[in-house]
Amino acid sequence: MVADASVGASHSAQRPVIAMRNVVKQYRMGDTEVHALRGISFEIAQGDFVAIMGTSGSGKSTLMNIVGCLDVPTRGHYWLDGVDVRTLDDDDLARIRNRKIGFVFQSFNLLPRMSAIANVELPLTYAGVHPRQRRARAAVALQSVGLGQRMHHVPSEMSGGQQQRAAVARAIVTNPALILADEPTGNLDTESSIDVMSVFAALHSQGRTVVLITHEDDIAAYAQRIVKLRDGQIVDDHRRDASGARRTHVAHAEAGQGAFQ
Ligand SMILES: Nc1ncnc2c1ncn2[C@@H]1O[C@H](COP(=O)(O)OP(=O)(O)OP(=O)(O)O)[C@@H](O)[C@H]1O
Ligand SMILES: [Mg+2]
Repeated sequence: MVADASVGASHSAQRPVIAMRNVVKQYRMGDTEVHALRGISFEIAQGDFVAIMGTSGSGKSTLMNIVGCLDVPTRGHYWLDGVDVRTLDDDDLARIRNRKIGFVFQSFNLLPRMSAIANVELPLTYAGVHPRQRRARAAVALQSVGLGQRMHHVPSEMSGGQQQRAAVARAIVTNPALILADEPTGNLDTESSIDVMSVFAALHSQGRTVVLITHEDDIAAYAQRIVKLRDGQIVDDHRRDASGARRTHVAHAEAGQGAFQ
């Protein structure tokens, strides 16, 4: 691996939107403790495009759920946009999820009886946006993922790739700074995967921070940085240049060192 601090430095100079120190997550299953995360310390700068990889059970979804404020660490610190999430109550966390974060899941999670546009409007309904504005903004989001002609179709009338693009439109309609996707192409064929990844690449080029989980190298190749997990720990973290030819190790702060101290 070629070490070159200068490439990583241009990113680490930016304010981290995500910073973790010694994050541990344990689940209790009857009498046994499951150690899902065993001390994660890393940062993600605003505007970065990161792929999280690792074998099944390595802790990827657990990490993503904590990043997305769907779950909280057992121990350790997590700062989202400089705010220590431990200081936030459930209402604050729900508001952050709605306003700052767009989620995309492997199984699309669209409501089956509702049209694409009605599905995309939902986060705006929760955010209290006026109905007329909701419809207009949902239409713009669907057009931006190439579904301008499919707005009034229900999910069963769309292909897997179209459904996932509708789910991406739902994730971006609130204009979130951070987009999180857990295996977004896991249920898609190659062509649909390329369509969906082109949408993520476009969102990244507009300055959004994108973090996605994938098992596939050709999907991870869209990202600028690849973080590998094994047994709840980061075992590899590297960034590559635009051609993909050169890899640069991403340094992590020493354990125990605060990100915003
Ligand atoms: N709610 C839970 N209760 C108990 N154990 C859990 C829970 N969620 C996850 N785990 C355990 O934590 C570990 C990490 O799970 P996680 O879902 O994060 O893995 P993953 O890397 O996303 O795997 P996959 O690639 O299969 O999705 C696993 O051993 C899993 O069984
Ligand atoms: Mg998972």
